[in-house]
Amino acid sequence: MPEAISLTLGQPDFKVPDRIKKAMIDAINEDKTEYTSNIGLFQLREHIAQYLLSFKIKYSPEEICLTIGGSEALLAVFTALVNAGDKVLIPNVAYPAYDSCIKLLGGNVVNYPLNQDFTMDISSLENIIDNEKPKIMVLSYPSNPTGATLSKDDRDKLHSIILNKNIMVVTDEIYSSLCFEEEYYSISQFSDIRDKVIFVGGFSKMFSMTGLRLGYLCANKEIMKSVLKVHQYAVSCAPSISQYGALEGLKNCLDEVEKMRCEFQKRRDYVYNRLKLIGFDVVMPKGAFYIFPSVKKFGFSSEEFCERLLNDAKVAIVPGSAFGPGGEGFARISYSYSMEQLKDALDRIEKFINDKL
Ligand SMILES: Cc1ncc(COP(=O)(O)O)c(C=O)c1O
Repeated sequence: MPEAISLTLGQPDFKVPDRIKKAMIDAINEDKTEYTSNIGLFQLREHIAQYLLSFKIKYSPEEICLTIGGSEALLAVFTALVNAGDKVLIPNVAYPAYDSCIKLLGGNVVNYPLNQDFTMDISSLENIIDNEKPKIMVLSYPSNPTGATLSKDDRDKLHSIILNKNIMVVTDEIYSSLCFEEEYYSISQFSDIRDKVIFVGGFSKMFSMTGLRLGYLCANKEIMKSVLKVHQYAVSCAPSISQYGALEGLKNCLDEVEKMRCEFQKRRDYVYNRLKLIGFDVVMPKGAFYIFPSVKKFGFSSEEFCERLLNDAKVAIVPGSAFGPGGEGFARISYSYSMEQLKDALDRIEKFINDKL
């Protein structure tokens, strides 16, 4: 539908910072096109370790592996850890790949509920862990699709649960550079549970380089040994040119990342305020670049709402049901689009709600 405005994509609309582009062109011209070590360029792993320290997350370069996007990191970690029949806890709602990866490996997905504002429902979570005895739980903050972040209080409660129970955590923090709160909280900030935690990060969103396919995972050396077997035989290494690009990004482009974050925050405020004025029930997102309004009061299922919005108002957004059963009655809007596009789309949504409903 060429005349439609799409607010569906999970990729920033910014250009890759020029210095990153130049570093990659230089790397090609200097013939840095060979395999890197399986685990990735040492210098880049050193810079990632340093960058993570700014979030109070401590990993040594030996505990960091470069992957083909966060996607490969997730599949490699799950492949290393999940045996057929193992139970894995996944937030309801979440990025759809967790569910698919676990099923691909013959694992059993157990969804854990979230509160109405998409924060952790800690007491339900504890009950589920006691009853279901899952091997792994997935944490995903800042969240796709809700934009929720982990609060200090929830982080601390989670810490004591993980410390006391026999469970491992895969924490997907691919949107960590896009947090609109003063402080960043992560379960990977505790040293006493670090052997139970695997951290997944990446550069797709941070440097707006989704197609360059570079992510990473961090784990203790024992877990890393197993994950590396999967990574090595699946892909050998992450793309060398992208690694040189990300290295330049971490060295010299963090101010551009900050500019992108501020721009996303402006868009977040704009989209939230417009949706509120139109009459949506919506929670203010605190990170990433998604907002997840409820469409329940309009009397349609998620799919019906999105289909009607597309056909009648020519605006494409994603039905919440795509992110798990808990997403029914919601829709995901990505605000990784220009202010002009966002304004045009919200004008259309406003007219659609006023005229049709
Ligand atoms: C929560 C989350 N994790 C991981 C990914 C994978 O990203 P990539 O493979 O580009 O690093 C995405 C992409 O949208 C995501 O939203």
